Amino acid sequence: MTKKILLIEGDGIGPEVVGQAKKIIQFFNENTDKKFETENALLGGIAYDKVGTPFPKETVELAKQSDAILLGAVGGLKWESLPYKDRPERGLLGIRKELELFANLRPAKVFSALADASTLKREVVENLDIMIVRELTGDLYFGEPRSVTTLPDGSRQGINTMTYNSKEVERIARVSFDLAKIRGKKLCSIDKANVIETTEMWREVVTEIGQKEYPDVALSHMYVDNASMQLVRNPKQFDVMLTGNMFGDILSDTASMLTGSLGMLPSASLGAKQPNGKQFALYEPIHGSAPDIAGKDIANPIATILSLAMMFRYSFGYAAEADKIEAAVEKVLEKNIRTADIAIASSTRVSCTQMGEAILEELKKSL
Ligand code: IPM
Ligand code: MG
Repeated sequence: MTKKILLIEGDGIGPEVVGQAKKIIQFFNENTDKKFETENALLGGIAYDKVGTPFPKETVELAKQSDAILLGAVGGLKWESLPYKDRPERGLLGIRKELELFANLRPAKVFSALADASTLKREVVENLDIMIVRELTGDLYFGEPRSVTTLPDGSRQGINTMTYNSKEVERIARVSFDLAKIRGKKLCSIDKANVIETTEMWREVVTEIGQKEYPDVALSHMYVDNASMQLVRNPKQFDVMLTGNMFGDILSDTASMLTGSLGMLPSASLGAKQPNGKQFALYEPIHGSAPDIAGKDIANPIATILSLAMMFRYSFGYAAEADKIEAAVEKVLEKNIRTADIAIASSTRVSCTQMGEAILEELKKSL
C-alpha cells in the first residue's frame, strides 16, 4: 500500500536537510516495492511569512490525512521579536498538541566512527545507546494558568503551571516500558519528587505500572539534577530514560551532545492510537533551524535521514529498510566522509547535498 508522507521543510536549514531525505524516499519508490506519495505543507516562520500564521489550519488537515510527517526545523532570529502566538515555535507546539503527539522518542546513539567527535572521552561514550522518552503534550509547556501580569505595586509576575494527570503519566510510562522490554530491559524514570508534588505523583504512577504490568523491566528513579550529572559522568548506565516534557527538553539536549553532534540525532513523536487504529506520528531531527548556516549547503542531513529511518520502523513497520538506511549512514561515516560539524582533520569534507548522495550510494549497494 502506498504510504502518504507529509513533508514540512520549515525554516533555516529545514529545506536542505529534508531535501536529502526526499532523495531516499524517491530511491525506495523507484527501486523497491515500497511506495510513497509526498505532499508539502507550511509550518513555522515560513508559514507566518506566507500565510500570516505559524500554524496554518491547512497543515493540520494535511497532517491528519497523512500516514506520517517528516519535519525539518522551525524558527529563526527573524521572527524572535514577534508576539508569542506568531512565533515559529507555536507551529511546532501546535501540531504536537493538535495531533496529541505525546510520546517523544529521542535516541542518543554513538556511531563508533564518531566516538572522537564527542567532547567527552572515547571510553565514556563509545557504544553508547540510550533512548530518552519525553512526554510531549503536558507539563509546563501547556499547563494552565499561564501568564505574565503586572501587580498593583508595578512589579510583574510570571506564572506557568507544571501539571500532569495520572492518565497522561500512565500512557507515557507504558510507551517507555514497552521500549525497555525490547531493548536492555532497564528503565530509569526522572523526576524531582523530593520537591515537586506533580513529579511525586509521576513516580508513584510509574512504579505502579511497572509492578503490575512490567515485572520483567528493572525500574529505577532518579532526580533530574542527578540525572543531568550522571548523563555526563557515566551515560552508559542508562538504557531507556523516561521524563516529563520540561526535564526531557533539557536532558535530551545533553544526551545529544554525548554523541558528538546535534546534527546526528533523529526523533519520533508518536500519538495515541485513534479509534480507527491510526496513530499520528511526526519525525524530525533534534537540531534546530541553524539560521547562521542556512542556504549554504553545509548542514548535516544525517539526523533527518535517520528520522526517516525511524518513520519506516515505527509508522510503517519497514524494519529491514530502516536498518538499510542506518547501515548506509554508518558506512559513510566509516569512510570518514563528513559534513563540517563532524569533520576531523583527515576527513573528506562534504556538503549537505554530497552527504545525501554518499548515503544514497551506499543504500544502492545494499539492495
Ligand atoms: C525541542 C525544541 C522545542 C521544545 C522548541 C523548538 C519549541 O527545543 O524539540 O526540543 O522546546 O520542545
Ligand atoms: Mg529542545
